[in-house]
Amino acid sequence: MAIQPWFTDAKLGIFVHWGIYAVDGVQESWSFYDDIVPYDRYMSQLDRFTAARYDPRDWARLFARAGARYVVLTSRHHDGVALWDSAHGRLNVGRDLITGYADALREEGLKVGLYYSHSDWSHPDYASTRRPGRPPEQEDNRYSEVAAECEDLAAWERFIAYRDGQIRELAERHRPDLMWFDGEWERSEEQWRIRELAALVRSYAPDVVFNARMLSEGDYATPEQGAPVVPPEGPWELCLTINDSWGFQHHDHHHKSVDQLIRYFTETIGGGGNLLLDVGPREDGTVPAEQAERLEGLGDWIGRHAEAVYGTVRGLPAGHHHGPSTLSQDHRTLYLMLFDAPRAAFGVRGLRSGVRRVTVLRSGRELGHRVIGGLHEAPGVLWIDPPAAADLDPHATVLAVELDGELELYRGAGRS
Ligand code: GLC
Repeated sequence: MAIQPWFTDAKLGIFVHWGIYAVDGVQESWSFYDDIVPYDRYMSQLDRFTAARYDPRDWARLFARAGARYVVLTSRHHDGVALWDSAHGRLNVGRDLITGYADALREEGLKVGLYYSHSDWSHPDYASTRRPGRPPEQEDNRYSEVAAECEDLAAWERFIAYRDGQIRELAERHRPDLMWFDGEWERSEEQWRIRELAALVRSYAPDVVFNARMLSEGDYATPEQGAPVVPPEGPWELCLTINDSWGFQHHDHHHKSVDQLIRYFTETIGGGGNLLLDVGPREDGTVPAEQAERLEGLGDWIGRHAEAVYGTVRGLPAGHHHGPSTLSQDHRTLYLMLFDAPRAAFGVRGLRSGVRRVTVLRSGRELGHRVIGGLHEAPGVLWIDPPAAADLDPHATVLAVELDGELELYRGAGRS
């Protein structure tokens, strides 16, 4: 099935890691799994989690200003604590924090995504089996697996029933546009019953999009934190923290700058992907100012260059232009991103299509350009005059290159 066009057109999503781990500012779930925080201490955050200033409409407005078209909220992380008053399982925050979120997003015209971890390191029936083929000499983690001789398949059935119960609640109440699964590595496709799980979600949300951690039912690749050097084929989404943490951690002020975020973003969309930029609200539901400011900065840049962003497709592969680029849906306009101020005319290689006009997208100012050289099938270099200082964007300048027809590229090694 082809992916929903809204997804590939959207370019920016916001990931929200919000949970009880924000109370003490410890790593989500992993802090007890890795024995950094005792389990009871970790779970004591549940009584201290207030959501006192949670205003999902504030979130939705902020994320819309950031230029995002969808949002993904951790409805239940590996720690097993549901952000809604689920009838299934015993761990939840005692009220429904999801409905307000979904409603607020839809009021702002944003698509609703829900993160849900396949794994649940708190559920009493979860660590009842192990992944087939897992080497016995590898040390088991007590929260996630048991030795082969201790397997209890009846318990695993109960776990699946609990999981299905929660998923049914989420899918029926919110009809999510996207379900972002995680933690798939601890069991096999068969153990998770991926097919049945996908069918269950689709019975309420037939057009739902799944990330790759839905295994065979995944619609798009899910690179995490590391920016791909060679963009994946097909639809994809880079998930990236705005500082070094998914959730709120008091000590982490290591935020990426607006400049860096714009680079990540343009390089991602230039390679045909989406950026899923993660923020970690405090336990009271407020987004830290240093994160909100960066979202606004990114949104301002996107707002100035929307034409080169939304609805575009992947641009030139590496080797043609020194920087990312996107291409209009009709393949007739190329958008070149310039991070630096060109000192002199700069070259774009390998364009077979003729060039009608080159303008600075923001000001509309036309730039001189000419093709020099070329022989037979190898086209010459397109030289573009540098934009005037006043036309340079403080973060990344975008030039629109209008072509005579659909973009055609020369990818050869030149004529020898
Ligand atoms: C990893 C981590 C998890 C985080 C996720 C986001 O899978 O387990 O903590 O939520 O990445 O992509």
